[in-house]
Amino acid sequence: MKIALIGYGKMGQAIEKIAVAKGHEIVLKISIDNLEDNTIENIQQADVAIEFTGPESAYDNVVRCIEAGVPLVCGSTGWLNKYDEVTALVKEKNGTLLYASNFSIGVNIFFELNRKLAELMAPHADYDVSMVEIHHTQKLDAPSGTAITLAEQVMEKITRKQSWVNDTTGNPAELSILSERIDPAPGTHKIKYSSSIDDIEIIHTAHNRTGFASGAVLAAEYIAGRKGIFSMKEVLGL
Ligand SMILES: NC(=O)c1ccc[n+]([C@@H]2O[C@H](COP(=O)([O-])OP(=O)(O)OC[C@H]3O[C@@H](n4cnc5c(N)ncnc54)[C@H](O)[C@@H]3O)[C@@H](O)[C@H]2O)c1
Repeated sequence: MKIALIGYGKMGQAIEKIAVAKGHEIVLKISIDNLEDNTIENIQQADVAIEFTGPESAYDNVVRCIEAGVPLVCGSTGWLNKYDEVTALVKEKNGTLLYASNFSIGVNIFFELNRKLAELMAPHADYDVSMVEIHHTQKLDAPSGTAITLAEQVMEKITRKQSWVNDTTGNPAELSILSERIDPAPGTHKIKYSSSIDDIEIIHTAHNRTGFASGAVLAAEYIAGRKGIFSMKEVLGL
């Protein structure tokens, strides 16, 4: 499979190693140093594009790949206010998009656990739920995209929480997400249900970036030749 890497930083380079080891070919590498090569024509040389740049640049790159008609795996976080606009464009162009706030198999299993725990806790209003996410200091967005996914899953089941805030809160209708930035931390997410009697807590801790990178390559293999909007649930058969 021919892959275009849009974003050749920590994630792009980790993805390259795994993709090449699996026999794929990297036909384009884009970083801030060669933006002139980030063209529709160059992207069209690939069977699939993988985008890991950042919150500021993701939207333009996503639109460019859709316009190029090349299936896209996007891992950049912090741009989801435009997600509905992008999915409408994918449908209009009969394109292919797989966005995941987190590509690791462990986190996607953790998502399932989070949904199940929230469902079990929903009737028990004595428990308050809150979250903490910990990442490295170069991370540009807060809370993390993974934390936002986890928060949305919680609020789907725990309807007494109506919105999340990236702070502590005294408002019982708000779900508190605290963001800590410590080096070197590839990513930790905690969801805690707390009552005066006891606490229940689930924690996922990434040890390195390999899980995200191998999940992104799996996702690219899955979407190549498919049309539509996909998630890691389909890739991992969860
Ligand atoms: N979904 C996941 O599983 C997951 C996992 C880790 C990181 N991320 C996210 O992926 C993104 C990238 O993370 P990273 O750690 O690789 O960052 P990084 O800073 O190491 O790399 C970013 C890369 O994007 C390039 N870039 C910057 N602006 C660009 C532009 N306008 N056009 C093209 N390329 C541009 C930079 O030159 C660099 O090569 C972040 O949003 C991060 O939160 C997601």
